[in-house]
Amino acid sequence: MVLGILLERRRKVWHKPASITKNSSDVVKSGSNHVYVNRQELERCVAACLEQAGAPPDHSVLVARVLVAADCRGIPSHGVNRAEMYCQELQAGLIHTIGYDGTGDDGDDNNSSDPTIVRETDSIANINGHNNLGAVVAQYAMEIGIQKAKATGVSLVVCHNSNHFGIAGYWAQLALDQGLIGLAMTNTSPFMVPTRAKSRAAGTNPIACYCPAAGNNDSFQLDMATTTVPVGKIEVCHRQNQAIPLGWGVTASGTQSTTDPTKVMSSGGLTPLGGLEETAGYKGYGLNMMVEILCAVLSGCQQVGPDVPPWRADRGVPVGYGHCFLCIDPHQFLPNNEDGSSSFPQQLAHYLDRMRNLPPAEERLAVLVPGDPERQEEAWAAQQGVRLHVNVAQSLRTLVRDLGCNEEMLLPPEIRNLPETNHVAPHPFASLATDASTTAK
Ligand SMILES: NC(=O)c1ccc[n+]([C@@H]2O[C@H](COP(=O)([O-])OP(=O)(O)OC[C@H]3O[C@@H](n4cnc5c(N)ncnc54)[C@H](O)[C@@H]3O)[C@@H](O)[C@H]2O)c1
Repeated sequence: MVLGILLERRRKVWHKPASITKNSSDVVKSGSNHVYVNRQELERCVAACLEQAGAPPDHSVLVARVLVAADCRGIPSHGVNRAEMYCQELQAGLIHTIGYDGTGDDGDDNNSSDPTIVRETDSIANINGHNNLGAVVAQYAMEIGIQKAKATGVSLVVCHNSNHFGIAGYWAQLALDQGLIGLAMTNTSPFMVPTRAKSRAAGTNPIACYCPAAGNNDSFQLDMATTTVPVGKIEVCHRQNQAIPLGWGVTASGTQSTTDPTKVMSSGGLTPLGGLEETAGYKGYGLNMMVEILCAVLSGCQQVGPDVPPWRADRGVPVGYGHCFLCIDPHQFLPNNEDGSSSFPQQLAHYLDRMRNLPPAEERLAVLVPGDPERQEEAWAAQQGVRLHVNVAQSLRTLVRDLGCNEEMLLPPEIRNLPETNHVAPHPFASLATDASTTAK
């Protein structure tokens, strides 16, 4: 019932993507720029690429699942678009995958890449990610955090010596699946120009906070960068040859807004959430620093803020990211309902619906709560397949070929049958001639 009302309200806001067809050549000819791909086939293809690039099979499957989940949630910036970059990091030997045995305990084996707990109490842990894939470290950390929160009511697990972990929401979702409130954060490489600074000196440092609500898997799902947009949105515009809106990024001077994604990627940077100082961007900058402190300073990362290496395949050194995961068991904070069930999900459902039912300023635009747009995208992806921009699909085909994978066996037909092109844009982090000083600092 609640979901029905929700979907009905959302229909007023979201326009279904252009016509769906299984023949991708037709898609391209008819002017649509997207193809729709079976989720499992896409995950299998991306996992095969990661494995071919050097990741262990089960890690490849996990990372592929995280990437494809982003596309399913309507976040293409952090989806298959990133497969090429992850593969390049693996091929360049920037990620430590040696000695993996999957036990999470490497004993005296200093060469193992298994994440390990370096400090621990009943409710906290600090984890050394041993420069393994970010998803592997995050999965390990969240499993520990969930166990501790169930036992004590709340847990805080931080990680150091890790890598890019994809969308923060994927990790908060693991707590949500267990009826817990989950927060996930990570620091990243410098791409944001802090308020009053001249060049980039902070990452896009996302925060996700998911909370369970009663009724048809409803929940609050806030998942956002602390920059106006994450760098992935600039990447996508770069790949699609599109201008970016004014306000997302600045040129090399640090103060001039630009619509050119290449300028932002190569020598400029992103604005903090809120934009320039005049529009209170300093609050986004402050939030961004908070994430950096909880992820990097609290976990003991070797490099913090401006000193974190750039996220580029030619960087030559580990990025050494830190993460922070907070799990809260709401049932331990509140008295239960008369029937013994927890009162938190019901209270939250009431609050969420109260917000959704606020009178809209424009009749056709219903008031949403965080997570509504992504849930709708997920519902569509489940019906019609994962939506990929043609450029991203073609770059995946190129990746499969470049890695020497079996294209006949691996590529979903919608991607395999796309028209051939000589102009597949490589991933921007691998292709742009950047000013090393602004990228690294
Ligand atoms: N791992 C990394 O290094 C990294 C860095 C930055 C961002 N990211 C990821 O990038 C993704 C996208 O980030 P973003 O900042 O572009 O997110 P966004 O701006 O698209 O959405 C942010 C939040 O706003 C909510 N929202 C959107 N429209 C709304 C509306 N009308 N009413 C109420 N809520 C609404 C969304 O549900 C979401 O929770 C996130 O998944 C984030 O984790 C990852």
